[in-house]
Amino acid sequence: MQAFTDRWVNGFAKLYEENPLGQISWFTGTVSPVLAELVIDGTIARGQRVVDLGCGAGVAAAFLARHGMTVTGVDNSATALGAARHLSELYGVELELIEADILATTLPAESVDVVNDSFIYHNVRPEARTLYAAEVARILKPGGLFVMVGFSDRMTPGSGPIRLTSDDVLGAFLPGFEVEELRRFRNLPTQARPDQWHWLGLFRKRGQAAGA
Ligand SMILES: C[S@@+](CC[C@H](N)C(=O)[O-])C[C@H]1O[C@@H](n2cnc3c(N)ncnc32)[C@H](O)[C@@H]1O
Repeated sequence: MQAFTDRWVNGFAKLYEENPLGQISWFTGTVSPVLAELVIDGTIARGQRVVDLGCGAGVAAAFLARHGMTVTGVDNSATALGAARHLSELYGVELELIEADILATTLPAESVDVVNDSFIYHNVRPEARTLYAAEVARILKPGGLFVMVGFSDRMTPGSGPIRLTSDDVLGAFLPGFEVEELRRFRNLPTQARPDQWHWLGLFRKRGQAAGA
């Protein structure tokens, strides 16, 4: 099954190949304020193993590595992974970068503490949502955290990613996860879309964490 909606199946690789990062619509050059808060309050902690699914140019992955996490970025665009490699070298941080599909990451089962999703789930076609949630659950340790940031239904309608309702988010994740938080927040504005109303979803994989 193709993970992303038709609009995006082959679109990303071409965008990365043909444009500087500063002209790519979602590229803000920084992590979401909510991801920084999760590091500040220790929800994502030094030493944890984090996977950034659909890591793109590696901004979130390099940020997390800089703050002491062991980070793997997964993306299916070799050009994006090249940019992520470049960024990690500029930062002087270690990143494991894997060219793979988000529905079949090739990562070992129950091997990571946190899965980060910045602008991925809102591009996943509805028929693939449960497969995506299953892959996230497979790689997370019991008690591991899934962090999702994506377009909400409070965004102005139009082209681009799906404006997710709360049901769109909860439907896929409720069976295997407990909801710690699901709220809309204002993310960094872009020129094309100044009103960025996004979801922050924090979901904890069900099951007892080892040593708990
Ligand atoms: C909207 S971008 C988000 C990138 C990054 N997370 C960020 O916040 O800047 C979506 C990313 O998903 C990647 N992607 C698209 N389809 C994919 C797939 N089936 N498997 C892995 N990565 C995919 C694209 O190459 C792109 O880097």
